[in-house]
Amino acid sequence: MRLNQLVGTIGCVLVGLSEAVMVNPLPAPTSISWGTTGPKEVAGYLVLTGSSNPTVVSAWNRAFGTIASLKWVPQATEAPIATYAVFPTTAAKAKRTTSTLLTGVSVKISDSNAALQHGVDESYTIDITASSPTISVTAKTPWGALHAFTTLQQIIISDGKGGLMVEQPVSIKDAPIYPYRGLMIDSGRNFISLPKIYEQIDGMALSKLNVLHWHLDDAQSWPVQMSTYPEMTKDAYASYQIYSHGDIQNVLAYATARGVRVIPEVDMPGHASSGWKQVDPSIVACADSWWSNDDWPLHTAVEPNPGQLEILNSKTYDVVSKVYEELSSVFTDNFFHVGADELQTGCYNLSTITTEWFAANASRTYNDLLQYWVDEAVPIFQKPRDRRLIMWEDIYLATPHANSVPTDIIMQTWNGGLTNIKTLTSAGYDVIVSSSDWF
Ligand SMILES: *[C@@H]1O[C@H](CO)[C@@H](O)[C@H](O)[C@H]1NC(C)=O
Ligand SMILES: *[C@@H]1O[C@H](CO)[C@@H](O)[C@H](O)[C@H]1NC(C)=O
Repeated sequence: MRLNQLVGTIGCVLVGLSEAVMVNPLPAPTSISWGTTGPKEVAGYLVLTGSSNPTVVSAWNRAFGTIASLKWVPQATEAPIATYAVFPTTAAKAKRTTSTLLTGVSVKISDSNAALQHGVDESYTIDITASSPTISVTAKTPWGALHAFTTLQQIIISDGKGGLMVEQPVSIKDAPIYPYRGLMIDSGRNFISLPKIYEQIDGMALSKLNVLHWHLDDAQSWPVQMSTYPEMTKDAYASYQIYSHGDIQNVLAYATARGVRVIPEVDMPGHASSGWKQVDPSIVACADSWWSNDDWPLHTAVEPNPGQLEILNSKTYDVVSKVYEELSSVFTDNFFHVGADELQTGCYNLSTITTEWFAANASRTYNDLLQYWVDEAVPIFQKPRDRRLIMWEDIYLATPHANSVPTDIIMQTWNGGLTNIKTLTSAGYDVIVSSSDWF
């Protein structure tokens, strides 16, 4: 009996040495190597040391809170296919032994004050060794440390007995390939409640996505409360479907705490009617006209309701300037998206100021009209310090398009796949690539 037990233990050690069981996190880290010395038990607490940065501390508390309450059982661990000796074997009775209990997480961050802006270093490393009771995390910035915690949330799992464990010692190095990893929400066509936006940010943080592009308004609604023009929210879907400045600040705080930047978009001069027309009906062309989908060559919009800013009306730029200035004081990111997609020439057929402008000089084209917009609006948009602008690729590639767009404006491509990406990068633009499967 005693002899059997002893043989059993030896068998176990041998099995342990030959197997590297893995619980691989997603997205896949740059490199990950699993040990073979057996699982490590995790205590009912993991004390964070090395950083008092409040963002880091609360991110760890959230991560460990989730780890401890979820006690995740992965669908499958990735182990080598077992080979069995001829029945009966002592190895079959083998029990898994565990090495040193994990009781802490030690974090080393080189620059604790790095701001969450484009290009910030998000790299991190995680080391869990057979002999140490402490998980070691290093990161250049707090934002890398947050990603490390998300990874730990995936690899600390249920031990099947009510406790927690990590399958094997493990060493991880990770850094994103792209500095902009995001998705877009559209609160112009559908109001999105704050809890739903928070849920979206939670999902993004777990997937290590770092940019929420917030398409605030569209022709259909203006949901943002404005101090300069309170009348704009008469075009919200409902009086309770309005974001106050406080609401926006709460979203920004929630996102920052999870390493997610928020880039606002105000779509101009196309997709613009609601809100604007409340300030001054003369700054919107073809508002609420029939959009003519029954005679497509004459359509005034890609979907109802139509409306585009009057490019040739100087009052337009007064209003644009004040709206942009106010939103620039609420949003904190260095990037601001100013739209510029899908301008419909048919809309301006209903604009007297535009048809007269074309009549005054027969050589003028719609490209010239868009150039007028770029020349007047871009200087307004570039006023804030450190500002980088994003525009939809249409301003450069669509029919019509502006003749000359400054190359320090980032182009967001959503059509044409690699062809458009190549055209834009060849022209010298930085490019954000969106899925063209937008439906
Ligand atoms: C604009 O109006 C002119 C003159 O009525 C017409 O010939 C043209 O087809 C219209 N174009 C569009 C795009 O609606
Ligand atoms: C008419 O428009 C064309 C095209 O924009 C421009 O090159 C030309 O200078 C304009 N002529 C006058 C007299 O404004």
